[in-house]
Amino acid sequence: MCGIVGYIGKKEKKEILLKGLKELEYRGYDSAGITVLSDGELKTFKAVGRICNLENKCADFISEGFGVGIGHTRWATHGKPTEVNAHPHIADFSNVIHNGIIENYQEIKKLLEQKGHQFLSQTDTEVIVHLFEEYLKDDAENNGFEAFKKTIFCLKGAYAILLVSKKYPDRIFYAKNGSPLIVGKGQTGIFFASSDAPLIGYTDKVVYLEDGAIGYMDDNGQFDLLKNIKSLEQNRAFAQKEGFRYFMEKEIYEQHKVLLETVMGRVSEEGIYLESIEDRFFEGIDEITICACGTSYHAGMSGKYLLERIAKIKTNVVIASEFRYSEPIMREKELFVVISQSGETADTLEALKLAKKAHLKTLAICNVDNSSIVRESDAVILTRAGIEKGVASTKAFATQVMVLWILSVYMGRHKKILDNQCFKNQVESMIAAIRATEVDVKLHERLKRLSKRYLHGHGFFFIGRDIFYPLALEGALKLKEISYLHAEGYPSGEMKHGPIALVDSLLFTVALMPRHLLYEKIKSNVEELAARDATICTIGSEIFESADDMIIIKEGADYMEEFFSMMVVLQLLALEVAIRLGNDVDMPRNLAKSVTVE
Ligand code: F6R
Repeated sequence: MCGIVGYIGKKEKKEILLKGLKELEYRGYDSAGITVLSDGELKTFKAVGRICNLENKCADFISEGFGVGIGHTRWATHGKPTEVNAHPHIADFSNVIHNGIIENYQEIKKLLEQKGHQFLSQTDTEVIVHLFEEYLKDDAENNGFEAFKKTIFCLKGAYAILLVSKKYPDRIFYAKNGSPLIVGKGQTGIFFASSDAPLIGYTDKVVYLEDGAIGYMDDNGQFDLLKNIKSLEQNRAFAQKEGFRYFMEKEIYEQHKVLLETVMGRVSEEGIYLESIEDRFFEGIDEITICACGTSYHAGMSGKYLLERIAKIKTNVVIASEFRYSEPIMREKELFVVISQSGETADTLEALKLAKKAHLKTLAICNVDNSSIVRESDAVILTRAGIEKGVASTKAFATQVMVLWILSVYMGRHKKILDNQCFKNQVESMIAAIRATEVDVKLHERLKRLSKRYLHGHGFFFIGRDIFYPLALEGALKLKEISYLHAEGYPSGEMKHGPIALVDSLLFTVALMPRHLLYEKIKSNVEELAARDATICTIGSEIFESADDMIIIKEGADYMEEFFSMMVVLQLLALEVAIRLGNDVDMPRNLAKSVTVE
């Protein structure tokens, strides 16, 4: 997602900032910008697209001598990826960059507009720099820090912020809450970055700032006053993967963070707010058709259970490549929802065009703003998973399901099906589900050990019921994609209608056994398989005597918490089996991250 760099010192600032931003390219971005403040001059350059576009824009600019600089790669969440929306954001004499989401930016913006501030961008970030200049008007101590603190105390949400101002040309103000921010000291100055990679080669002493950190740095030794100064690992590839063996592993571990971004600013005690979708959008809709491919299709299937259960709206789920040529019947009262991580999947895009031709309202649930699918749809809800590098989708799936859950609660509220208490329960449940995706390192260790028993045999069945059936499909897909073992997802109640004929001790069955949904029913289904000598691995919070292996998860308060816990277990299981088999987890054979052919 977005990236941050900052520098205080005498070296050529432009070069350091651009080099730092290049180190953050792997995180994905759609625009970039830098500000350099030296000799009393504040110079800002921004460009849409690759860093080389930014390099071209500032090719003739030289920034020698003491000064400060900040740089940013933006991955659009509020507002399109345009130059105006790119960071740094500018007020009269100060500039700011920000990662994260300011949830209450609209309230702040309104107040500032009443005081005469004019905004250029559609972003949440721009309010920060205006608020700072507003508070500066009565900054008693006149060192800028009071005004900066007041600014930060007004913000709700997640942020890593760097701010520079012509009034204080020797310093960078910083604040951190929820989004990562690192500060380092080297021979040539003070450096900031949102992850390790840009700091390598410049410094080996860093501080990983804690939530709530707020302060400023100049070159006068504040760094030495910081606590917890650590040495920096100097291996760049390791730094990009943030210490994980594979991007897929890193992406599994960051799910709780990106899920927070997915709900932030959208879900609150007062209600659900879907930016860029007007309430009227859903008027007259009496049915939903969800269309997608692969993992996104599994998210769609999960969404069907949520939409029907929570919002009581009939929902169909179709595979895009099937839908296109099936001469589908489409009704104008049907909302056509497409789900896509990349936003470029050819079959999904063509299905979307068909629906538009039939005059259906269309909604995209997508991870990439400005992608073909987003541009083609009437409305969009971005999943905010950040760039996903591992070919096997993990965090994108998690955020897709979360968006569908948010949509279900929104529609349930709208249709007056959810009273205040039910709404409150749903919100609490979402927060608990997000927490449940935080990887329990001990559980991961257990899965590492367990994986060695599941490398052979003649196949896997992943079984579940209700919303755990699409999760079983997704578990099977993850395993086959990266381990190349045969795996199938099945509704557990269907096993006795055929597949049970395959059962023997070399058939591995992974059974999803949520305590809060149809537990007794699935228990009987698993007993039937155990009686025929299947090798059974259960995932659940209960001891199940007939299992060969049990993966015990924490007992959740409801089935959605169990859903998200089990999702992580399935992803880690696939990962560990594939690693043991020696496969390239991030780039499995025959697969592509974006499937732009039919
Ligand atoms: C599996 C996976 C694929 C994609 C599918 C659709 O891990 O990533 O199954 O889900 O190719 O891609 P998107 O979501 O980009 O439309």
